[in-house]
Amino acid sequence: MDHFAYHNGVLHAEDVAIPAIAEAVGTPVYIYSAATLVRHARVFREGLAQLPSTHIAFAVKANPNLAVLKLLAREGYGADVVSAGEMDRALAAGIPPEGVVFSGVGKTADELVRALKAGIGQFNLESEEEGVELAALAAALGVTAQAALRVNPDVDAGTHAKISTGKAENKFGVAYHHAPGIYARLSALPGLHMRGLAVHIGSQLSQLQPLEDAFTKMGDLMRAIRANGQTITHMDLGGGIGVPYREEEVFPTPADYGAMVARVTADWGVTLMFEPGRVIAGNSGVLVTKVVRVKEGVTNPFVVVDAAMNDLARPALYGAWHDFLAVVPNGHAFTANIVGPICESSDTFAMGRDIDKVQAGDLAVFRTAGAYGATMANTYNSRALVPEVMVHGEAWDVVADRIDPATILAAERVPAWLK
Ligand code: LLP
Repeated sequence: MDHFAYHNGVLHAEDVAIPAIAEAVGTPVYIYSAATLVRHARVFREGLAQLPSTHIAFAVKANPNLAVLKLLAREGYGADVVSAGEMDRALAAGIPPEGVVFSGVGKTADELVRALKAGIGQFNLESEEEGVELAALAAALGVTAQAALRVNPDVDAGTHAKISTGKAENKFGVAYHHAPGIYARLSALPGLHMRGLAVHIGSQLSQLQPLEDAFTKMGDLMRAIRANGQTITHMDLGGGIGVPYREEEVFPTPADYGAMVARVTADWGVTLMFEPGRVIAGNSGVLVTKVVRVKEGVTNPFVVVDAAMNDLARPALYGAWHDFLAVVPNGHAFTANIVGPICESSDTFAMGRDIDKVQAGDLAVFRTAGAYGATMANTYNSRALVPEVMVHGEAWDVVADRIDPATILAAERVPAWLK
C-alpha cells in the first residue's frame, strides 16, 4: 500500500497534487511519500514482532537521501552501509553508530579505520583477509571490532542474474565449507570479536523458499561453529524481499517472511539482524517526467519523455518494469514505446506497452522508483542530476537539489598546456 492516488482525476502524493511540484521544481523529479516510508518501516517491523531479539538496519544503498534516512532513524532503524560515504550519511541522519552495520566486498583500510573511530556496531567481513586487516587496524587503535563473517550459502535466489549474490560463483562472502575454519582463526585474533554470521543471497526475491534454504544452511553452519567451541550471538539475515512492480504481482508479505524466519530460527538463541532496502523504499517513490513529444514509429509510437536511463537506470540495466501512469489521465489508452532522450537504444523504459494516452507536455510517473532510483542516477549525456522531493501530508520539500550541468562543468579543468 502506498500514498500515491488520484483525487479528482489528478495523481497526488499524499495530499499534494503532483503538477504543483512539477511546476515548482521542474521535471524529471523524484517524489517520496513520508507516510509510505513510515508505513513500510512499521509493517516490516511488525512482521518480525514474534522474534525475540532483532535489529533492523535499512540498506542505505536503496535510498541514501538524508531526509529518508532521518525518517527511518526516527522509526528506530539502524543502517546497513557499504562505503564510508554511506556511513557518513547514516551518522549525519542521527542513526547511532552502534546501529550501523558495515557490509561491502571492498572496504578499504581507510574506510575500516574511519568506521572503527566512529564506533560502528558490526563489520560484516567478506573474507579472511579483510578480517586479518581489520583486527590489526583495531588493535593498533586499541579497540575491538565487532564482526560477523559473511557466508555464501550457494543458493539460487531465483532473481535477475545481476542482483543475485548467493551462488558459489558470486564475489560475495566466503565459501560455505571454508567458513568454520575462517571463523575459528579470526576468533583467535586480538582486536576482533567474532559474534556471528551474515548472509544475503540477492535482491527482488519473489519467493521465500530460497531465503528459507539459505537460512537453514546458515543454522547448520552456526551449530557446527558452536560445536567447534566458538561463540555466535548474532545472525544477520540480510535483505532481499521483493516488491510488486506491476499491479497484478503478488509478493510474500513481511508477515509471511517473519513467520518463516521464526520457524527456521526458533532454537538459534541469537539476535537476528535484517538489512531490508527495497521493501521499505521501493513503493515510497515515483519519478515524475514530462512528455517531450510523441513521435511516430514503424509499429508503435514513441513517447519521448524528459527522464532517461541516467535518472532511472533499472530498465536499461536489468530490463526492469516500472508502471507508467499519466498524472492527469484523459481516459484514453494506446500502445506505445516509452523512451528517454539519451543517444543509445538502451535508454528505453518500455516497448509496446499499453499505457494512458499521453501527448507532448503531459506529466507522467514511473512508479515504484523509491529504491535504487535517484541513488543510481548519473549525468550521462551531460544531463542534470535529478532532484528529490519529500511529501508529508500537505507539505512538501526539496530534499535534494537538481545539480545542473553547469555546476558539474565548473568542477572540470583544462590543463595549462591545452589552454
Ligand atoms: N544487504 C546487502 C549486503 C546487500 O547487498 C543488499 C542489496 C541489501 C542488503 C538490500 O537488498 P534489498 O532488500 O534492497 O533487496 N540496484 C539493484 C539492486 C541491487 C541490490 C544490491 N544489494 C536494483 O535496482 O534492482
